[in-house]
Amino acid sequence: METYKVRFVNYPRQYQQLKREFDKVFEEIMSGGDFILRRHLEEFEKRIADFVGTRYAIGVNTGTDALYLSCHALGFGPRDEVITVAHTFVATVGAIVQCGATPILADITDDFNIDVDKIEEVITPRTKGIIPVHLNGHSCDMEKIIQIAKIHNLKVIEDSAQALGAEFKGRRCGSFGDIGIFSFYPAKMLGGVGDGGMVCTNDKEIAHKIRAFRDNGRVDSPQIIECFGWCTRLDNLQAAILNMKLNYFNRWIDRRRKIAELYDRGLEGVDDIILHPRSNDDYFDVYQNYVIRTKYRDKLVRYLKTAGIEVLISWPIPLHKQKALGLGHFKLPKTEQISSEVISLPMYPELQNDEVEMAIDAIKNFFNS
Ligand SMILES: Cc1ncc(COP(=O)(O)O)c(C=O)c1O
Repeated sequence: METYKVRFVNYPRQYQQLKREFDKVFEEIMSGGDFILRRHLEEFEKRIADFVGTRYAIGVNTGTDALYLSCHALGFGPRDEVITVAHTFVATVGAIVQCGATPILADITDDFNIDVDKIEEVITPRTKGIIPVHLNGHSCDMEKIIQIAKIHNLKVIEDSAQALGAEFKGRRCGSFGDIGIFSFYPAKMLGGVGDGGMVCTNDKEIAHKIRAFRDNGRVDSPQIIECFGWCTRLDNLQAAILNMKLNYFNRWIDRRRKIAELYDRGLEGVDDIILHPRSNDDYFDVYQNYVIRTKYRDKLVRYLKTAGIEVLISWPIPLHKQKALGLGHFKLPKTEQISSEVISLPMYPELQNDEVEMAIDAIKNFFNS
C-alpha cells in the first residue's frame, strides 16, 4: 500500500474526531435492535426534506438505486429517450438503461456540467426526460433546464449525488426537478459508513411509488403488496449515523469552501493550470471536489504520487468512450477534452491547512521544475 503525506480521503480521522458520538449512536441502535425502517430513518428523511426544501424524502440503499427507482417511478421505458451527460459516474446513465430507455448524451461546459445550450439540439419526439448532474458540488443552470423541460414537457431528475447543500439562485439542488437524488457514499458531502441514498420530491404520488419500490411493494401495511418492488431501504443504523453527522454539515460546508479558497489563492497564476470554476452570485458551491485541469495531467499525477499527495481522476474515460457500454456514436469534444485534463485534489473538512499547502507546493514544484 502507498504511504501518502496527504490523503485524498481520510475516514479514520473523522472517526477519531467524533468517536464518542459515533460510538453512542452505535450503542443506541444495537441496544434497541432498531435496524429496518425505524424512527431514526424517519427522522433523517424529515431533516433531509427540510434541508433540501422538498415535501418528501425517501431513504434508499444507494444513490444508484435512488436514480433507478426515480426513472422507474417517472415511467421511463423502452422507446423513451432521456438526456444526460457522459462526464458523470456510470450510475446516471445506467439508471436510464436499466429502465429500458435510451440515454442521449449532451456535451458539457467548463463548469463540468451539461451545456444547457446543447439540450434542445438533442430533443426528439421520443425524449421523455433530462437528468442534469450537479457535478463536484456545483449546480447546473436549473432555471434554463426547467424552462426547457416545461416547453418540451419533459420530466427532470436532478442527479445531486455530489451536491447536497449546493444552491442555484438561493434554492438548493434537488428541489427544482420532479425528483432530486442524493448519495451518502462515504466520500460524498454527507458520507455514511457504507452506502446510502435518498430520493427527494414534492410529488405525493412519486413519493408513494418510491416507498413501495424500495420495500418490495409495501408501504402502509406489511400484508398489502401494492406492486412488485425491490429491497433497497436505507438502514436505520446508517440513518442514525447520518443524522448525527448532519448536525455538523453546515460547518463542514464552510470548511470545504475555506479549503477551496486556499487552493484558489495558492494556485493562482500557475501557468498551465485551469483552476476549479469560480462561483458567482447565482451559485453557492459546496466543493464536493476541487478539480483543476492541465494538459500535463498524467505527468502531474505521477509526480504528486512520488511527492506523497494522493489525488483522483474522475473520470479519465468518459462514458461514451467505455467500449462495453455501446455509446461510442456520441460526439462530445468538450467532454473528451475535460476528461483528459481533470485532477481532483484532496478535499474534505478534516483536511488541515498545512496539508493543503503541501499539495499546493507540490503542484507548484512540478510546474517550476
Ligand atoms: C454523479 C453521481 N451520480 C450517482 C452516483 C451513485 O451514488 P452511489 O455511489 O451512492 O450509488 C454517484 C456516486 O459516486 C455520483 O457521483
